[in-house]
Amino acid sequence: MTQRAPEAILWDFLRGALMTRTLGVVADLDIAGALADGPRSVDELARECGADADALHRFLRALASDGMFSEVEPRVFANTAASDFLRDPGERAFAHLFGGAWHRAVGDLDATGSAAFPRTFGADFWAWLARHPDERAAFDVAMEQGLESRVRRLDSLDWRGDETVVDVGGGNGSALVELVRRRPHLRGIVFDLPETVRDESAFGARVEFVAGSFFDRVPAGDVYVLATILHDWDDERATAILRTVRRTARSDARLVVLDSVIPSGNEPDGSKWLDLLMLTLFAGRERDEAQWRELLARGGFEPVRIEDGLIEARCR
Ligand SMILES: C[S@@+](CC[C@H](N)C(=O)[O-])C[C@H]1O[C@@H](n2cnc3c(N)ncnc32)[C@H](O)[C@@H]1O
Repeated sequence: MTQRAPEAILWDFLRGALMTRTLGVVADLDIAGALADGPRSVDELARECGADADALHRFLRALASDGMFSEVEPRVFANTAASDFLRDPGERAFAHLFGGAWHRAVGDLDATGSAAFPRTFGADFWAWLARHPDERAAFDVAMEQGLESRVRRLDSLDWRGDETVVDVGGGNGSALVELVRRRPHLRGIVFDLPETVRDESAFGARVEFVAGSFFDRVPAGDVYVLATILHDWDDERATAILRTVRRTARSDARLVVLDSVIPSGNEPDGSKWLDLLMLTLFAGRERDEAQWRELLARGGFEPVRIEDGLIEARCR
């Protein structure tokens, strides 16, 4: 538990929207990238990126007061270890989304249990992304964050070696391409909406892309991976996705779900906040162990392993 003063805890909640939005603006201006070679004056940065120098100074001063950038001399800023992360395209894309479209939708979040995003933008998140290719590209880049841990989890499974792995909602295919590179006898099918931004020329001979909706069908395989898919959907829709997979899966097929398992108690855990992002965007949710067991059973599966970030199941 945190030892901070109660007033400081309250203040952090009150200013949270300003922090998120400010970071998003500064990430869009790529200030961290502009500071890659060392400290620079805010006036020079502002000229280069077309910002108002006074506004940029106020943004960076506030961010620096919390360790994001550092004012090393009056009006001269440098990266800190935290702001340096924004040079990574995935982190920058997340800052863009959190501080942009997601921030606007969070402004409409309420306690009705319905998704805010469609109220804010007049379309569900996936349809909106399809109409905004730049945002779709940013989303796909952001999703590559955590790629290494996703691949490590997949690689740790007990592979027979010659299976066909179907990455259901596999996005730009990067996880499957890397898994197949590490496991040379596996074949892979990335299944997703047609508008995902991907480079199929880099997929190699053993991975193919199949376009479609997991509410209609999924391609046949031996192992079905659902990586950060089910948390995007409420129980009814998540059950429908599992049932689509179950309809196609042979009885000896395996299901692998990469999603959080919310721990009980007050301990800080990213999944407790991401749960609210899922509610905002899709009326989706993160789930605890009991909720996973119930969902899998409704979808026609039986868990054989449930740990945070990795759930394995077989057909019932
Ligand atoms: C949170 S992303 C996860 C992407 C990838 N599995 C990963 O872990 O990086 C959810 C993915 O589901 C895809 N998706 C959304 N609706 C879909 C549908 N009806 N059918 C197939 N894929 C869908 C999105 O395009 C997106 O790539």
